[in-house]
Amino acid sequence: MKRIEIKQLLAASNFGDKVQVKGWVKAFRQNRFIQINDGSTLNNIQAVIDFENEEEALIKRITTGAAVAVTGVLEESQGKGQKFDLIVSKIEILGDADPDEVSKTVMQPKKHSLEFLREQAHLRFRTNLFGAIFRIRHATSFAIHNYFNERGYYHIATPIITGSDAEGAGEMFRVSTLDPQNPPLTEDHKIDWSEDFFGKETNLTVSGQLEAELAAMALGKVYTFGPTFRAENSNTARHLAEFWMVEPEVAFNDLTDNMDLAEDFLSYICKYVMENCADDIQFLNDRELKEDQSKPQAERNEMSLIERLNFVINNDFERITYTEAIDLLRNSKPYKKKKFKYPVEWGTDLQSEHERYLVEKHFKKPVIISDYPASFKAFYMRLNDDGKTVAAMDILFPGIGEIIGGSQREERYDTLVEKCKAFNIPEEEMWWYLDTRKFGTAPHAGFGLGFERMVMFTTGMSNIRDVIPFPRTPKKAEF
Ligand code: 4AD
Ligand code: MG
Repeated sequence: MKRIEIKQLLAASNFGDKVQVKGWVKAFRQNRFIQINDGSTLNNIQAVIDFENEEEALIKRITTGAAVAVTGVLEESQGKGQKFDLIVSKIEILGDADPDEVSKTVMQPKKHSLEFLREQAHLRFRTNLFGAIFRIRHATSFAIHNYFNERGYYHIATPIITGSDAEGAGEMFRVSTLDPQNPPLTEDHKIDWSEDFFGKETNLTVSGQLEAELAAMALGKVYTFGPTFRAENSNTARHLAEFWMVEPEVAFNDLTDNMDLAEDFLSYICKYVMENCADDIQFLNDRELKEDQSKPQAERNEMSLIERLNFVINNDFERITYTEAIDLLRNSKPYKKKKFKYPVEWGTDLQSEHERYLVEKHFKKPVIISDYPASFKAFYMRLNDDGKTVAAMDILFPGIGEIIGGSQREERYDTLVEKCKAFNIPEEEMWWYLDTRKFGTAPHAGFGLGFERMVMFTTGMSNIRDVIPFPRTPKKAEF
């Protein structure tokens, strides 16, 4: 008999249907009721066995975590909150799970801390919480591909190993096959990278943007969706050393087009997950409400997960320039009361405390900050007419901070070469990038969405380590 997945069973079966289900035992009560989950949905099917008909030895093997195959007929459930009971005619144990061992793991059905769950990242998939998170992560990713595909964008694979560090986005991870104990040396006793695998220094990429720009200058509208790597030593709830980035790049777009695209895109993603992951979203929404009840008022979420998603779907973001943000901050209560740790001065970067004030206290909604000083933004951002700011934009979300960073690109060859000089970027390394500004250059713009930060938003999880299956952070590369 062909098995049916629980999601499909719950959606399309009828009383009296004979079915086979395979999954893992979530709970077994009164030697009679088995809750089975197969990952296709948050919901379980309740299988009902008749103890009289089964051997005791077999009953003993029906334990939390065991893999089972059950065959039987669907009947109207006597229990609350479920439509079907599966009245079992045949049960087979596919894989045992020793209860003593299970009791030491996160599969033990009780509340576990997120930290403990992280230590067992290989088993946390089995919990309701992480089942929900990773189904929503999938839907978030699918929504992104859908969005671009429906609008005629082409997906471009950009290299993971790169020879350029143009982003200046922090430390990079070296890729090398040289013997670290005994590397070849040049005459002046430096490591001779020309002997390395690629004949030059190479690293893991921090962004696919520069390559995406090349493609956009021919295909018009493209996007990348790939892993990116940053060796910054930031042990925060929002940073990973390995994360995924989505980078659309569009020929003929200016900064305003770029903002419009980003807003529409984020709102589409929220709508898609609300429509396609209703059960999982509801589960996470209710879980968060429960968690909040045990927190002091000040730490509770002002809106529920569902309200936050709806907010992004239904409301425009606030748009302000960096200069306006500085004015606002300097007139704020915390500034006047000297509550900010870092200075607020035109020309210095905004710190997370400033961003949080603007987004969470002042505007209480997503904010797009544009036109930052050129000095602390990447070399490729288009210089504004004032000669000191660039056509940059950051999108800040409540509880997450920067979710998107982007800009209109510098399309003028001479200005770009000047910028390379100012940023100490050797022209001979960037010849391929500069070439696009020589042959039919055109205005264009794009941005990078931190995919895990987006999944933090669609799941409501507050630590980025809980929205990627196997997080890579300083001193942690287990599994
Ligand atoms: O702002 P960033 O550094 O922008 C770029 O890399 C551009 N090349 C993007 C572009 O214009 N095509 O990074 C983009 C986003 C950030 O807004 C943030 O959401 C995420 O990537 N991000 C991280 N996410 C997790 N862990 C980290 N260490 C991250 N660093 C950046
Ligand atoms: Mg940024």
